[in-house]
Amino acid sequence: MVSAIARPEVFLVAAVAANGVIGNAGGMPWHIPADFRRVKQLTMGKPLVMGRKTFESLPGVLPGRRHIVITRDADWQADGAEVASSLEAALVLAAAPHIVIFGGAAIYALALPRASRIELTEVHADVPGDTHMPPLGDGWHEEAREEHAAENGRPAYAFVTLRRDLWRRI
Ligand SMILES: NC(=O)c1ccc[n+]([C@@H]2O[C@H](COP(=O)([O-])OP(=O)(O)OC[C@H]3O[C@@H](n4cnc5c(N)ncnc54)[C@H](OP(=O)(O)O)[C@@H]3O)[C@@H](O)[C@H]2O)c1
Repeated sequence: MVSAIARPEVFLVAAVAANGVIGNAGGMPWHIPADFRRVKQLTMGKPLVMGRKTFESLPGVLPGRRHIVITRDADWQADGAEVASSLEAALVLAAAPHIVIFGGAAIYALALPRASRIELTEVHADVPGDTHMPPLGDGWHEEAREEHAAENGRPAYAFVTLRRDLWRRI
């Protein structure tokens, strides 16, 4: 008998400017409260897999979510962080049906080949920065898009869901 093995869904949560920027000087280049609320709603209760630099950029541990931090430094540790030496080790440690890839650029690049969903916030502005989204790869289709106008000096943005069927690509 062939049994169905449930593979975890690996999905990215990312905010990207029109010029591809996702970060600047170790932090986020914009402050969009609605984006923070969406990220909270998308990630609550799910393990977050992130690079060491992204973990260190957070104002603190985000409640209700495990923080699995990828680093090459075998001695690195921090309160609230579970440490993994590779993406594979992080995914094994996560052991959940839905695993969030929380960034930054280095970890998005590692995880994109494994991802079947991207929850993107497109910031409709060119923004100065030093960290860029890596190429997403092939096969994505846009499943949902919700546009939001500029307000209070903040740029317009869109919440976008991209999906692809990884099995079809094998
Ligand atoms: N806009 C967004 O949605 C978003 C989301 C997340 C982050 N960000 C921004 O992105 C920037 C950080 O991104 P980043 O690319 O510079 O750093 P990062 O991906 O957060 O972390 C990079 C670190 O991860 C570890 N690492 C990377 N590849 C590895 C591998 N193959 N094996 C083991 N460890 C590995 C290394 O840690 P060690 O050096 O400790 O070995 C490396 O220095 C910040 O500005 C942050 O604010 C933006």
